[in-house]
Parts: sequence; structure tokens; C-alpha cells
Amino acid sequence: MKDFYRVIGNPVGHSKSPGIHAAFAAANGIDFDYATCLSPLDGFAATVAQLAAAGCKGANVTVPFKIEAFNLCSRLTPRAQAAGAVNTLSFDGIDVAGDNTDGAGLVADIVHNAGVAIAGARVLLVGAGGAARGVILPLLDQRPASLTLVNRTAATAQAVAAQFDQPIAVCTFDALAGPFDIVVNATSASLAGEVPPLPPSVFGPATLALDMMYGAEPTAFMRFAASHGASVRDGLGMLVEQAAEAFLLWRGVRPDTEPVLRELRPAGPR
Ligand code: ATR
Repeated sequence: MKDFYRVIGNPVGHSKSPGIHAAFAAANGIDFDYATCLSPLDGFAATVAQLAAAGCKGANVTVPFKIEAFNLCSRLTPRAQAAGAVNTLSFDGIDVAGDNTDGAGLVADIVHNAGVAIAGARVLLVGAGGAARGVILPLLDQRPASLTLVNRTAATAQAVAAQFDQPIAVCTFDALAGPFDIVVNATSASLAGEVPPLPPSVFGPATLALDMMYGAEPTAFMRFAASHGASVRDGLGMLVEQAAEAFLLWRGVRPDTEPVLRELRPAGPR
């Protein structure tokens, strides 16, 4: 039987992961099966148990199951523990190990694909939900000059920052003093076509502004940042890089992401 992998979500039909992993496998001469798996909203644990029993080797986990995945794993990597969420499962019999590759994917996209060093940079992370929390430890591991967290609900940002040993500056939107070298939008505002209430002064001509979201068109956040002089980037690179990290975990080889990113975005990075 071919090794098989799944991406579990609800909805999941739109997922780009099967195409990305098929491309990684083909480029590395690996013959495996990777497909979507639609889990009932109230049946995630049962879905995982069925996959494990059927001999599945691993799975990616997407909306809305990343926290449930965190809670059912028997082992967690430190970065999954820090994230409080799991996006990559590895099965060993009925044993389920959890990792979170989102932060490593973000870091790889910024450092390697955009060519912007996080080490020594002033970094602003916007949002304090699951997406933001998932990337804090890998960002801190790069040794930025500072990491500032800003969120509409200040108490949430305070609570998230308190979970980390290293210093994180928590700020309100109106007290932000920029410009920052890197601004990452980890809010879900783009889903509603909205922009977090950032003062334009957070952006400058040397700022990289990255939205974790992506779509056919630049997000409202990207348009806002670009109109204030920043270089902008969507979340497609992060998506491909987090997939590469999962592939590395499962198969022991980190695939070349450049051809896959070029295929997904023929016009080149935005
Ligand atoms: P996710 O798992 O995608 O991070 P989440 O945990 O629901 O989703 O968190 C959503 C984040 O986006 C939160 O930081 C939220 O701010 P609040 O904590 O104040 O709710 C933020 N957010 C959503 N819509 C926003 C908007 N229009 N402007 C600013 N922040 C927004």
C-alpha cells in the first residue's frame, strides 16, 4: 500500500495542500497519496482515529480543528506547545504526535523568499488569535531587535505575551510608534475585507508588510500598506513553506519550494 497523508478540515475542498504536496513528492521521486479529508465539525477525534487505524502516515490540520488537534496529541513539539495549536500530525500506530509548522513557514518565507532578515529587525505582529500565537516562538527564535504585539482587544495581547519567556512589547493601535522593519497581519480582518486600525506611521519605504491571508487580489491590508510605501507580500509563500516543513517532518527531506511557488503565483511574489 502506498503511504498516504491527508489534510483534515471543514471546509477543505478549496485546500491547495494536495497540489503542493503532490509537487513536492514528484520533485523528490516519492510516490505517495495526499488528499483532502472532510471531517464532520463534531467528529474530528473520530476522523483522526479512523485515519490512524487505516495506516495513514500523517495529516495536516486546518480550520477549524487546529486547537482540537493540539488537545488530542500524545506528544507535542515545543513549537506546537507554544502555539497552542497543531497543524501537522504524524501517526505511529495509534500514537499521534503534533507539530506546528506555520511559524517556521512564515520565517522561511520572510527570510529566504523575501530576503528580509528577522534577526535585528523591529517586528510588529498584528492580532492575538491562534494565527498570531502560532508564529511568536519561531519569530523570537530569529532574535529580532524587538517584537511588538498589537491587538484590538488589548487584554488578549497581554495574555498571549505573558505566555512567553522572552520580552514582547504589547501596544495599543493608537500608541504605535513606527516605522517597523516587518509588519505581519495575523488578524482575520482580511476575510471581511477590513484593515486593522494601524497608523500609517508603522510603514516606511524599508518596511516589509506581510498578510498571512491570500487571495486572487491583494488584501485590503496589503493595499493600505503599499499606499504608505511598504513592500507587500501575501500568505501564499507561508502556505507553501509550512507545507515544506511538514514534508520534511514526514519524509526527512525539505523540498525546493521555489518551483511550487512560481507555479501557484506565475506573476511572481506580490
Ligand atoms: P485566528 O485563529 O485566525 O487567529 P481568532 O483566534 O478568531 O482567529 O483571532 C482573530 C484575530 O483577528 C484577533 O486578534 C482579532 O482581534 P480581537 O482579539 O480584538 O477580536 C483580530 N481581528 C479580527 N477582525 C479584526 C478587525 N476588523 N480589525 C482588527 N482586528 C481584527
